[in-house]
Amino acid sequence: RTFRIAAIPADGVGKEVVAAGRAVLDALAETSKNSAAPFAFVWEEFPWGCEYYERTGTMMDEDGLERLKDFDAIYFGAVGWPTVPDHVSLWGLRLRICQNFDQWANVRPVHFLPGVQSPLRKADDTELDWVVVRENSEGEYAGLGGRNLGGRGPGGEVAVQSALFTEVGCERIMRFAFDLARTRAHKKVSSVTKSNAQQYGMVLWDDVFKRVAADYPDVETESVLVDAMSAKFVLKPEDLSVVVASNLNADILSDLGSALAGSLGLAASANLNPERRFPSMFEPVHGSAPDIAGQGLANPIGAVGSAALMLEHFGLPDQAARLNKAIEATTAAGILTRDVGGTATTEDVIKALIDALA
Ligand code: NAI
Ligand code: MG
Repeated sequence: RTFRIAAIPADGVGKEVVAAGRAVLDALAETSKNSAAPFAFVWEEFPWGCEYYERTGTMMDEDGLERLKDFDAIYFGAVGWPTVPDHVSLWGLRLRICQNFDQWANVRPVHFLPGVQSPLRKADDTELDWVVVRENSEGEYAGLGGRNLGGRGPGGEVAVQSALFTEVGCERIMRFAFDLARTRAHKKVSSVTKSNAQQYGMVLWDDVFKRVAADYPDVETESVLVDAMSAKFVLKPEDLSVVVASNLNADILSDLGSALAGSLGLAASANLNPERRFPSMFEPVHGSAPDIAGQGLANPIGAVGSAALMLEHFGLPDQAARLNKAIEATTAAGILTRDVGGTATTEDVIKALIDALA
């Protein structure tokens, strides 16, 4: 089988980690050549991002979505560079794709890797195995609001940023989280809100959560406020399995989760359109890391882990498992980039991953 993938490296370390992921995926496909079920990847790379914006005045081409829509998947790096305001670059590319392709479920697994130090790891046998499920289509990132409201004179500007919660949006992400929990050893869903302070949308979220939970009596549930949940991530990590939260809350919690696992550079994610009407998008959780970009210091594991999620989406779970095993073999062997306490370069890690697949 041949899978057509649109690569959008975009900015900073996004370029380095997408190149890494492509090299590793192509090496994986190479090993399938003489097998009973060979597969291959056909790539098309799109030059969109902040440099493109500075040249053309747009983050992606006008017909960009049209050109992406028939790919089997999108493999994304990271968007953002200090020369372009972050809200312009993020909305112009990543959020534009997520929202137009209705990638409403953002899945972000968090787990320990062998040989990687974690601030949480008390003993070598401590386990951490969560999936943060992020509502990816509405909530705090619905884009509702405006500047210059009210006209209170110089120094008195008023801005509004509203969050949108729909019953349909809440219900579908929760059912997704419960279905996922059913596939896991620890069958539990923790719902996160700040419904004591945000009394409309987040209370709707809580109500829908209770209603949906009733359909999954075999799955344990809890509702936790986001401030308490951030403490719980640190203090009782073993108590969590699937964590479902709104766009902003899950965004913050998943960075916390990946830092607790050892580094932001390790964290993988999938932006899924579960109905498969549009392509889904696979990307590391981290941003473009301008502080280390272009120096060969980027940890490619988050991007390679995202490629493993893409293989699962393609219906190749065994190949995804091989890729994840290669990641574990590499970190266990101490081939670690600087963010996880090592001295290896991006290239060293790519080479080790490819060797581990042979
Ligand atoms: P960031 O995730 O780029 O960096 C935060 C810290 O983590 C930095 O110290 C960086 O060096 C480190 N880091 C990130 N990825 C790493 C990797 N692969 N290997 C080793 N270390 C890594 O977040 P920051 O600095 O807040 O944002 C930088 C730019 O990225 C901004 O323009 C922001 O808007 C954008 N951004 C884009 C995202 C996306 O495209 N999905 C997500 C988050 C931020
Ligand atoms: Mg984020």
